[in-house]
Amino acid sequence: MKQFEQTIRRRGCEEKTILNNLCYGQCRSFYIPPMEVLRCFNCDHTGRRHEDFFNITKIHPSFAEKARGHETGQDESVKENTYLVCCDCVYDRLQECQSCLKKAPLCMFKIAEWFGDKKTRNCIDCAAKFEAQGLFQTGYHSSVIIRQCSVCRHFKYLPSFISWRKHKPHDTLKDCFECQLRRDIAQYKREVRNRYEEKLQQEPALGDDNKSLRTGVGNETVSQQGATYASVVTNGFTDTQSSASSCKNGRIRTKETTQQLQLNAINETGLHKGKCISTGLDESFCAKVLQALKTSFSQLEEKTKLELQLLQSNPQFWNTALRDKLLRVSQLFSSQATDQIHFNDAESRWAYLGTYTAAHATLVQATFTSGRFEPLTEFIKNSHSKERLHVCCLGAGPGSEILGLHQLFPSNTEWMLLDNCEQWYYTAQILLHDVCDVPFRYGTFDISNGHGRSNVGDLGLTANYAFKKAKLFLLSKFVSAVQNLPGAFKYLLDILKRAAPGTLFLFVDNAHIQTKTFIEDLVFPSRDSKECEEYKENESFRLYTTYAELNSDREEGLKSLAVCEWVSLISYWLDRHPILDLRVNVHLAVKKR
Ligand SMILES: C[S@@+](CC[C@H](N)C(=O)[O-])C[C@H]1O[C@@H](n2cnc3c(N)ncnc32)[C@H](O)[C@@H]1O
Ligand SMILES: [Zn+2]
Ligand SMILES: [Zn+2]
Ligand SMILES: [Zn+2]
Repeated sequence: MKQFEQTIRRRGCEEKTILNNLCYGQCRSFYIPPMEVLRCFNCDHTGRRHEDFFNITKIHPSFAEKARGHETGQDESVKENTYLVCCDCVYDRLQECQSCLKKAPLCMFKIAEWFGDKKTRNCIDCAAKFEAQGLFQTGYHSSVIIRQCSVCRHFKYLPSFISWRKHKPHDTLKDCFECQLRRDIAQYKREVRNRYEEKLQQEPALGDDNKSLRTGVGNETVSQQGATYASVVTNGFTDTQSSASSCKNGRIRTKETTQQLQLNAINETGLHKGKCISTGLDESFCAKVLQALKTSFSQLEEKTKLELQLLQSNPQFWNTALRDKLLRVSQLFSSQATDQIHFNDAESRWAYLGTYTAAHATLVQATFTSGRFEPLTEFIKNSHSKERLHVCCLGAGPGSEILGLHQLFPSNTEWMLLDNCEQWYYTAQILLHDVCDVPFRYGTFDISNGHGRSNVGDLGLTANYAFKKAKLFLLSKFVSAVQNLPGAFKYLLDILKRAAPGTLFLFVDNAHIQTKTFIEDLVFPSRDSKECEEYKENESFRLYTTYAELNSDREEGLKSLAVCEWVSLISYWLDRHPILDLRVNVHLAVKKR
């Protein structure tokens, strides 16, 4: 027998050094001194292992006060126990929120609520609602109070976010409490499982009884919130079946299409037949867009409900309120060019995703696969043999370009998206990460704000890094969106100047003469290009130009279920059709030296 000093450390407890005995005999055991019985104030579960309990006094002394208030007249040992809560209650055992009736473990409730009557507890998100209403009354704008979590992408009230008090309005927020707590819950469950498995190895007889392994009931209830939202989207269709079938019969021609066709009539005469790129809508893109639309629609529903609650209106009417809002956005889309639209609000982004993304993705993809541009064909061929490829999208929005291209490029390609609207990142996460399983990086930059001021980026990607790395730049419908902004020309000129030899710039954009001239001036600022058969060139650049058309005027184009569902979804909520026909100019600039 050997005596030795042992320091015992337990979460939530003071550390203590004791004199222990180590037995050198057969049992190789430590002597464990008898300990007091620990009792959970919430479920009355008792135990002796400190790691199974939290001591809340240590987490937050003010709660000790509160608990003490409850338990006056009790003896010391009982008082001690009033601050103890078992890990199961904190992380696993379900408690009901009296407001939303959602069931979740205690950690999803603020500690202040833990000591209240079990029947009057409010979960973090419900407590946040009350706080948010206070903020609203003191004059905060609803766009500051209702925010999207960058991890779970749910819209929530500001007080549902970690350290929200410290942040300035419109700063990027950390993830929401629920996201952080879910990680804690997952870790707790992993630990329980490991402990259980260890025990199982020591005592295999335990295997029959797996009651102690309560498998993620709490997690399930919370994560299935979204399920009903998607069904609401589908329910919307019953009203719109007629419009879905009408697109089968007749060709859909939107205002934009007609305008585009008129413009292109001029261009067309100058071009050889067979040299343009022509394609039908890629149905797999529509299906992916549809999937992303459904996910982000559930978030719009959530956001609208939060807004109605702030206004003390009945959240049941979210449907009408949201449709109103979307119709207004849709009117903006048809009454002005997309350069007038700001994408800070989730409704505009949803409408854009539903209306334009599939068309843009299809055209960008067709540009690469058409074989029309030899440098692009070469680029794809070489991309698989060379070192890691870096691609930069300017004004990327939801990442339509990447939806179109990711399957053509190696899976380790670094996709770098830049836009001045930070919130596009959420949409891109759904479309590219969740739906297409494509990893990417997002950063903010403002084309009318010179290099020096380019945002360091809360999202992690800086514009300067992207410009340095990229060997391929994609500008899909970007020039037309920014060509009138002061500083935009100079900014782009600078990027072209700095680019390494061999860098490609692909512009897919409106067939407006102004856009075409802008791009040509950008590539040949001294207007010193020579015209060759296939391209124009000067010392620094070679510029290929053609046009591409998206033409869904084919029967089979709308046969697919996903396409019909997508078209009717957009028809119902935006009272218009998504872009199914489109003509664009395609310019490819290749840096020579
Ligand atoms: C028509 S969208 C194109 C989106 C995407 N490339 C596509 O093809 O679907 C134009 C994009 O430019 C972005 N944008 C507008 N003004 C900008 C600016 N000053 N700086 C950077 N991006 C800007 C918008 O947020 C929007 O995402
Ligand atoms: Zn308990
Ligand atoms: Zn609640
Ligand atoms: Zn979250």
